[in-house]
Amino acid sequence: MNNNSIYGEHYEELEAVRNCLVKSINEIREKLHKENGIDPIEHCLSRIKSDSSMREKCHRKGLPETTESALEKIFDAIGIRIVCAFVSDVYAIRNSLADLPDCEIIEEKDYIRHAKPNGYRSYHMIVRYKNKTYAEIQLRTISMDTWAALEHHLKYKQNIGGNVKLIEEELKRCADELASTDISMQTIRNMIFEERSDLT
Ligand code: GTP
Ligand code: MG
Repeated sequence: MNNNSIYGEHYEELEAVRNCLVKSINEIREKLHKENGIDPIEHCLSRIKSDSSMREKCHRKGLPETTESALEKIFDAIGIRIVCAFVSDVYAIRNSLADLPDCEIIEEKDYIRHAKPNGYRSYHMIVRYKNKTYAEIQLRTISMDTWAALEHHLKYKQNIGGNVKLIEEELKRCADELASTDISMQTIRNMIFEERSDLT
């Protein structure tokens, strides 16, 4: 990493913590897979926020563009997104993360039980690893991920025209329909599991 990086000398440390967290998440995944006979994670992505995005965020929050701001005032230099098939997997993984010894939960936002007004749903956690390094972990279902990707895409689309209100209403409607489908899928999953445990 070049010396002008907002992360200064700390980039490698961020990479190391990112790798440790992803490793722990994979261990949680294997443990829950073994216990329940079904893989709880569809996919898991992680990133270090780019230098320019971090500088932009400092600027947006009225913070100086310093290493201290990037590591101590902003908590998503490390970002991890865990996408699950079922809502129950989101909470199971959240609970396993809360049990990790090196990982302290600093903040949680349950945008699943309390969706944002625009329809956005996800479970957000800010964690501190080994009393030092912050990371943001987002947990969501495939449906929630699909919606967030589309909404993100549209937000940055310039010439949306005069239909903004209608588009927002339609997006909100889609989010609510997807949430209702998530509940139905969860019910189906629970039914399958009840059947299975009846057989054993
Ligand atoms: P920040 O200053 O950006 O950290 O604001 P915050 O802490 O209030 O953010 P929050 O925890 O609500 O959300 C942070 C991240 O969640 C964003 O960077 C996005 O990745 C995601 N996110 C939050 N709201 C939305 C939304 O309405 N749509 C989409 N697509 N993503 C969202
Ligand atoms: Mg945030």
